[in-house]
Amino acid sequence: MPVLRNLICLIACLLGLAGCGPEPQQVKEKLPLQVFTALPTTVNAPANNPITQEKIALGRLLFFDPVLSGDKDVSCATCHHPDQGYAEFRDISIGVNGSGLGSKRTFKSPNSIPFVKRNAHTILNTAFNGMDPYGRYQPETGEMFWDNRVTGLEEQAVEPILALEEMRGLHYEKDQILSEVVQRLRSIPEYQDLFEEAFGPGDITAGKIGQAIATFERSLITTNSRFDQFMRGDRDAISSAELEGFELFKKVGCGNCHNGPMFSDYQQHVLGVPESKKLSLSDSGPAEDFAFRTPSLRNLRFTAPYMHNGSFTSLKRVLEFYEDISGGREENPHVSKDQYDPLIRKLNIRVRDMAAIVSFLNTLNDEDFSREIPESVPSGLPVGGEIE
Ligand code: HEC
Ligand code: HEC
Repeated sequence: MPVLRNLICLIACLLGLAGCGPEPQQVKEKLPLQVFTALPTTVNAPANNPITQEKIALGRLLFFDPVLSGDKDVSCATCHHPDQGYAEFRDISIGVNGSGLGSKRTFKSPNSIPFVKRNAHTILNTAFNGMDPYGRYQPETGEMFWDNRVTGLEEQAVEPILALEEMRGLHYEKDQILSEVVQRLRSIPEYQDLFEEAFGPGDITAGKIGQAIATFERSLITTNSRFDQFMRGDRDAISSAELEGFELFKKVGCGNCHNGPMFSDYQQHVLGVPESKKLSLSDSGPAEDFAFRTPSLRNLRFTAPYMHNGSFTSLKRVLEFYEDISGGREENPHVSKDQYDPLIRKLNIRVRDMAAIVSFLNTLNDEDFSREIPESVPSGLPVGGEIE
């Protein structure tokens, strides 16, 4: 009895019950629930990695210390700098053998290191990755990266150290670099002390490096944008033009994927974003299907240029792209018509609605986060790496 089954599922969905949805094939046909609320003002941490001030302080030093990279030239802050909203104002990243920050960063010559093929996310609010429309999430299983290839901030934190073009460089193999980095930290007395203060007695390990950095990242949340204030009851926090933009955002169908407090369903969708002109090979993602994760729409002020490869320099350009693909046009010749997400074809966006939608998106910016940069790091290396 499909009618009865659908009715039961509808009731279950309305009640927010998990695991009682229709078959995966049918999910695509049904429109997702567009639920929007303010972000919670506190974060969850995994049971085995509670948040402490000692861990935050240690994680901050590690985040800015290029000692974590093979050639001691790149730190996490190289591509996620507080002055750039913990993201960077450039399309695709330059890690090893680069110098400068953001749009001014270039490769040194000679150079044999490739570009990182993706656009750097902001670290802000990554503590909430994986959040469902109702604000529920498990910190261990929060999806990370444009292709969700890793879950949880702890696990994510060692990935850039392993990646040749981000931090590892040419002088260490993938299976050597973590023990090399651990040895380096063990030989620095200040780190020995800081790790003991944070984790109690015991050796420094790669696992503890990940836990400290993840804890620092959990301190980087922005939960008081004008949109959050509005959702918590301050009706004057956003203007009537911005409110109209919010209504259009929902009506047009943006909220079918960008929903919940993070404005992301954390699912992957095929949009057929044009390839980066800087890359010689097409980036189709690990499943080679051109699906990328819906990014959060919070703090777009800092995540420009937009999309997984930074192809679009402005929000206006993003919206024009949506208008194109919803009308059945394509901008990436490698993606065939039948691969596009059906929800994209359902978008109903008009040029005259675009300015209002952009003004609404700007209510999701929040500049209230720590921009603290350590004066020095325990290795004695330049803070942040070669970013001058
Ligand atoms: C060379 C530039 C570079 C460096 C160095 C770097 N990152 Fe990233 N980061 C990126 C890029 C690019 C992405 C997106 C990659 C992808 O999705 O495939 C990213 C993604 C992330 C994400 C995922 C965010 C999300 O919403 O999914 C986190 C968290 C993160 N980086 C933390 C770190 C930490 C911690 C370090 C240091 C250990 C670091 N990054 C070093 C460029 C960099
Ligand atoms: C089918 C799901 C879906 C719909 C509907 C959708 N988006 Fe997206 N959005 C995505 C995905 C997936 C990406 C990343 C695509 C990529 O990089 O390949 C994205 C990227 C973006 C970005 C770039 C963010 C950044 O930091 O790089 C913005 C802005 C955006 N969408 C806004 C909108 C607006 C406004 C609408 C409505 C007109 C909309 N989206 C409709 C899934 C969707």
